[in-house]
Amino acid sequence: MIDEKIKKKLIASAKEARENAYVPYSNFPLGAAILTKEGKIFTGVNIENSSYGLTICAERAAIFNAISQGYKNIIALALVSDTDEPVTPCGACRQVMSEFSSDIKIIMCNLEGKEKIINSNKLLPGAFSGDVLNNE
Ligand code: THU
Repeated sequence: MIDEKIKKKLIASAKEARENAYVPYSNFPLGAAILTKEGKIFTGVNIENSSYGLTICAERAAIFNAISQGYKNIIALALVSDTDEPVTPCGACRQVMSEFSSDIKIIMCNLEGKEKIINSNKLLPGAFSGDVLNNE
């Protein structure tokens, strides 16, 4: 369960960050915001490049922002898009999330406030985890 007030704040942070997305190629701005166990919020946006494959997604930018500042206990992630249906994180971002927790609440939201919530372990069952299992 996530407190309703905190959830609203997280979504508002992602929405505000979205304004800074750098998307001259796709024109598809996304904003993400992460909530840590300590109650801190870190944001990220998608940042594209003329060499398209170098683009970083909003979710990973937010995660790397949190990690860079010393916070890795991620409990929720909000993702805001201007789409009819809220969008889900791509596979690469799901794998990166799984590095830090198998239990992240993913809140996907459009600009009209339509919202879907799913747990990260449902989004990426069987995530790659190196040779952890082989070393047990
Ligand atoms: N994108 C994200 O930021 N997150 C995702 O989970 C999927 C896609 C970005 C990458 C690119 O800038 C734009 O959305 C269109 O693919």
